[in-house]
Amino acid sequence: MKNFLIIANWKMQLSYNRSLVYTQEIAHALAHEAHQAEIVICPSYDALAGVKKIINNSSLYLGAQDCSAHAQGPYTGQIQSQSLAEIGCSYCIVGHSEMRALGQSNQEIVQKVNQLINVNIVPIICIGERTQSNNFLDELQDQLFPLITLLKTVSYKTIAIAYEPVWAIGSGITPSKQHIEQVFSYILTCWRNGNLAGQPTLIYGGSVDDKNLQSITTISNLSGLLVGGASLDSQKFKKIVRSCIIDKQ
Ligand code: PGA
Repeated sequence: MKNFLIIANWKMQLSYNRSLVYTQEIAHALAHEAHQAEIVICPSYDALAGVKKIINNSSLYLGAQDCSAHAQGPYTGQIQSQSLAEIGCSYCIVGHSEMRALGQSNQEIVQKVNQLINVNIVPIICIGERTQSNNFLDELQDQLFPLITLLKTVSYKTIAIAYEPVWAIGSGITPSKQHIEQVFSYILTCWRNGNLAGQPTLIYGGSVDDKNLQSITTISNLSGLLVGGASLDSQKFKKIVRSCIIDKQ
């Protein structure tokens, strides 16, 4: 069941030194599990190369938390997708709600996806409604359609879409299983209607922890989890990974 993805989004919670120490701890704790699920560690930019060095001898994968919408140029403070590829990133999160809140537009996020496809990094595109409302699918549609328009014009391999309702992130509240399944089938319908090849890897994120996993892992079409807070405790994270491996076998 190596295809089930478990992504640890460390956000800006750890300093450079702490990131390296914690990577050693995680690599040790998950040495066995890393052969049974695809575990992706996403530290902040500064720690990417150092983390990569540590996980080189393990089966863990490296991911970034964002990238520039441009290939190169006068963009102070931004990071090239090419550099992420050279450092050894296999994945990159884009469109996280914490970045959208700083002003990233759907169009910009789609340009980032394009940059990542160009360097063979799997984009993990986060989408999610801001508040609990009845017309949440309209908000998701606005986030999805520019992506589908891009994917009609480029050749891609794997595309991961992480459904992360903003109200569920860091709140301890998770949507019902039916709600997540409704969103997943909506994404798949948009995909089919856009005549896109293959199927996206569908991920859920938002307050995933070792206690609410049981209902989450039985969601139809679920191929992965994006874990924030609970990925910062190696024992908790290990429990999450182990439950996924058992439930998805
Ligand atoms: P959380 O964060 O697991 O702490 O809710 C998830 C995320 O923001 O990706």
